[in-house]
Amino acid sequence: MPLLKVIDLKKYFPVQQSFLERLLSRKLDYVKAVDGISFEAEKGEVFSIAGESGCGKTTTGRLIVRLIDPTEGKIFFNGADITCLSGEELRKLRKRMQIIFQNPYASLNPRMKIGENVGHPLEIHGIAYGREKEKLVMEMLEKVGLQPASKFYNAYPHELSGGQRQRVAVARAMILKPDFIVADEPISMIDVSLRARILELMIQLKEELNLTYLFITHDLAVAKYISDKIAIMYLGKIVEMGEKEVIFSDPKHPYTNALLSAVPVPDPNVKRKRVMLKGEVPSPINPPTGCRFHTRCPLATDICRREEPKLVEIDDNHFVACHMIK
Ligand SMILES: Nc1ncnc2c1ncn2[C@@H]1O[C@H](COP(=O)(O)OP(=O)(O)O)[C@@H](O)[C@H]1O
Ligand code: SF4
Ligand SMILES: [Mg+2]
Repeated sequence: MPLLKVIDLKKYFPVQQSFLERLLSRKLDYVKAVDGISFEAEKGEVFSIAGESGCGKTTTGRLIVRLIDPTEGKIFFNGADITCLSGEELRKLRKRMQIIFQNPYASLNPRMKIGENVGHPLEIHGIAYGREKEKLVMEMLEKVGLQPASKFYNAYPHELSGGQRQRVAVARAMILKPDFIVADEPISMIDVSLRARILELMIQLKEELNLTYLFITHDLAVAKYISDKIAIMYLGKIVEMGEKEVIFSDPKHPYTNALLSAVPVPDPNVKRKRVMLKGEVPSPINPPTGCRFHTRCPLATDICRREEPKLVEIDDNHFVACHMIK
């Protein structure tokens, strides 16, 4: 049984309209941020969601940890339907599922010392208070490489560097010993020189604490490093999904190929043809008809403008949504 199973998940945000617009159009427009995605993540694996900015990655992450409610679809965690949990049940789920945000500064309370920031979830969930809490927090600070822990315990977020703050955010996500963590671009806002060390820390903690990650990134080089499986998203849809090795060695979807051609190849003997993407990502309010990628796809034909391609399994665990790939 997969730890996480998502079935036909959708999130439509109503577009804010002025009084006059509402009066004239009589129709509500929606941003189709996530528009019918399905996938499974097994316990212990790193499942990555990759794609350009605006394709619905963050919304997917927020839906899964139930920070926002889906418009349609189902989410199963450890076999249980968590789509509509609320109140006490949702609070219990929070203990098992955590999220690390892109901006570590925004996710920490600037008026709380680091020790209080990290220890707060222990109090909220009634797990530890006072001395006991302090001990658990100190251990966790050591684990994420904030040493000596006593120095960091009493510091405030503004006294730390970006990399140190993201270590604090990791510590806070891990302190409840969750099973599952959504990491939403956890290294994209920290200094390039510190990124590899944070990724290494996340992998090490995953092994140590037997975690499962939903890892969100716009950077395929990062996805290549950390993932077991990858789903490529475009305008609210998954266009290709499979084992990391397959996605990188045998990509099928024209969008995946375009993204991959922008990733530097370390081996000078391997040459990849650079595919330039035309134009901008279209608006998710009125996505293109048929295949959403047809306005930018070098292979698009008539059928692409008319019919939406389904995500089909073309090989063992390798899924592609494209009329040209069978
Ligand atoms: N709360 C919201 N209200 C309206 N539109 C939103 C909201 N959150 C995200 N969106 C829109 O949904 C789309 C997907 O956003 P997001 O999930 O943040 O993408 P990504 O993380 O891949 O950059 C974007 O067009 C974004 O503007
Ligand atoms: S379905 Fe057509 S437009 Fe879409 S990716 Fe395939 S070839 Fe390109
Ligand atoms: Mg995002």
